[in-house]
Amino acid sequence: MRTLFRNARIYTHRDMGAPLRGDEHSAFTVYDPGAFVVREGIIEWIGPDTAGGGIDDDPDTIVDLGGRCVVPGFVDPHTHLCFAATRENEFQMRLAGADYMQIHREGGGIMSSVRSLRAATRETLLKRTLMGLKRSLSFGVTTVEIKTGYGLTTEAELRQLEVIAQAAKQVPQDVVPTFLGAHSIPEEFRDRRDHFVDLVVEEMLPAAADAGIARYCDVFTEEGVFTVAESERILTRARELGMELKAHVDEIVNLGGAAMAARMKCVSAEHLIAADDDGLSEMAEAGTIAVVLPGTSFSIRKPFARARRMIELGVPLALATDCNPGSCYTESIPFIVTLAVMQMGVPLEAALAAVTINAAYAIGMAESTGTLEGGKQADFIVLEGESPAIIPYHAGVNPVEEVYKKGVRLI
Ligand code: NIG
Ligand code: FE
Repeated sequence: MRTLFRNARIYTHRDMGAPLRGDEHSAFTVYDPGAFVVREGIIEWIGPDTAGGGIDDDPDTIVDLGGRCVVPGFVDPHTHLCFAATRENEFQMRLAGADYMQIHREGGGIMSSVRSLRAATRETLLKRTLMGLKRSLSFGVTTVEIKTGYGLTTEAELRQLEVIAQAAKQVPQDVVPTFLGAHSIPEEFRDRRDHFVDLVVEEMLPAAADAGIARYCDVFTEEGVFTVAESERILTRARELGMELKAHVDEIVNLGGAAMAARMKCVSAEHLIAADDDGLSEMAEAGTIAVVLPGTSFSIRKPFARARRMIELGVPLALATDCNPGSCYTESIPFIVTLAVMQMGVPLEAALAAVTINAAYAIGMAESTGTLEGGKQADFIVLEGESPAIIPYHAGVNPVEEVYKKGVRLI
């Protein structure tokens, strides 16, 4: 069964076999008008929609996309979508002047989500996670990463991993689970933090590895959370157990986390608001992808990470929602692209690379998605408007009209 999609303005990057860097971020391929053929969910051919241009003249079905704009399905490479309850009260405290990390130090923040998750049934947690995934899909996200980190006991972290795996079976998106047992020092370990790091290393990580669900291990390296030395110990153990590595680093305070992530050969380092040029250069050298989260800067009223500088220094850039009940509650990748373009000066083409192919590399999914090219899954979205510029132009409005995963129309 071959379907020909035709009469579209297609904008896609090319997969160069590695995350895009520097000027590669801005190198769009445009087919206008363009067409592509999908067979068994895979793109068989893509090219100009002109007679003699290689277009299939004998497909089983033809879908006319009416001259609208087509881009690859978005990839959201950093979320905390598996949580039990929102934290609107804290948002209101922040509106009234409270600081995000101050709330955290006083036992709210991540710990508030830990308390609600520990008390929640599996059903509640699953329902909430599915709700987030549904909303994420409506914004064109066809591949998404989800982290644990609201359990912070072996049992609750495993429960979170299992719920993520269960949710993944019930949604059309590809879901990539990440273990983030070192997300915070839970209150019961406040006066014996070393014991919690021991617990992560000696019990949680082996149990998570045994469960075989999480592909990545992440850690929150930050002042008042995990030190660089503790993070290295946790990540080293995770690698021994067969996981690939990520790290939340230099979000509020520059602890040298970017350099640590590079040294540890992390696939990605995330946040990076406070990262300096030395740390970023080490990431460029190691090929560590920067996963930048402008929605978080917006929501906790912090500066934006220096994404343009990252591109200049040769760091591959990805962008994500960080969707979580605390520091950034949005499932909208179009909103993230808008912030990147309008507030961070990221060129539109680069922002698109950052939410498609580079985001796919950041979660190990580039083999199957992230660009519209022969051999990849037909994960694509139809946008309102003539070009991806519609995203920041029609700001605050969902520009996604249709969503296709493996060639199947979902929205
Ligand atoms: O990526 N920075 C650490 N963790 C999350 C926030 C989690 C929360 O506030 O619940 C983040 O922003
Ligand atoms: Fe995060």
